[in-house]
Amino acid sequence: QRHLLGIEPLRPDEITTVLDLADRYAAHGRRREKHGAALAGLTQINMFFENSTRTQASFELAGKRLGADVMNMSMQASSIKKGETLIDTAMTLNAMHPDLLVVRHPHSGAVDLLAQKVNCAVLNAGDGRHEHPTQALLDALTIRRAKGRLHRLNIAICGDIAHSRVARSNILLLGKMENRIRLVGPATLMPAGIADFGVEVYDDMRKGLEGVDVVMMLRLQKERMDGGFIPSEREYFYRYGLDAEKLACAAPDAIVMHPGPMNRGVEIDGTIADDINRSVIQDQVEMGVAVRMAAMDLLARNLRAHPKEVMA
Ligand code: CP
Repeated sequence: QRHLLGIEPLRPDEITTVLDLADRYAAHGRRREKHGAALAGLTQINMFFENSTRTQASFELAGKRLGADVMNMSMQASSIKKGETLIDTAMTLNAMHPDLLVVRHPHSGAVDLLAQKVNCAVLNAGDGRHEHPTQALLDALTIRRAKGRLHRLNIAICGDIAHSRVARSNILLLGKMENRIRLVGPATLMPAGIADFGVEVYDDMRKGLEGVDVVMMLRLQKERMDGGFIPSEREYFYRYGLDAEKLACAAPDAIVMHPGPMNRGVEIDGTIADDINRSVIQDQVEMGVAVRMAAMDLLARNLRAHPKEVMA
């Protein structure tokens, strides 16, 4: 692949290649060994048009650990604020010859559009409700490490599915790897036509969690609700917040995931989030660095192997 814009175009063997390399980087990270210099001599620019803690920090760390020159554009202080368009901004940075452009944008499709205008590799760090491919890859690696496999698992993705790029990328990835996916949440937060994706849909959380191996909670994304229906937090927690009583419906060894940032007491009880026997939320963060290292390493190999294709 020239870019990493989404999970949709990836084949299962390509997903496995990223996860295998990330697993090796994760093992090195734990032993604090040097990671080599896969990105030495390359320039990585991070452009985040939306707030981020985990994704931005881990892309920066990943690039630095692999020897790239990393520049974080402060979009709040950029000429975007003077009215410069996304494409003009990208073309301006492109003229400085970066090799890797990491982009987060509030509008679905904005990162794909930008990738058509620049001649470097582009990584989607989350675009609107569309995709967040590195999040799905780090979630997959976390599941594979915790459960020992990434196929034939029962996985419940719970909460605000309609506004979630994390849900979309995970549905695509976990489906490609032949898992059974259940979506759990109120009908008002389910996208139209979602059953066509080969998933089961539940509005009763206890039934949706019955016997599952993985419980993946999602943040209630009020900023994307466009003035539509916003549930009361109290009511939402009562029906769809993960607490000990609802988690007891899942398999006894089920793991609990959340991409962060979390709304404690809204979609998840703080004690569940912090329970080191069930929650792998901190592992997800740790795998984020390893997966982003692997993704950029593989794109850089492609850049080096096919410079004409990339620079055409
Ligand atoms: N999960 C995730 O994308 O978190 P950030 O918004 O903090 O990057």
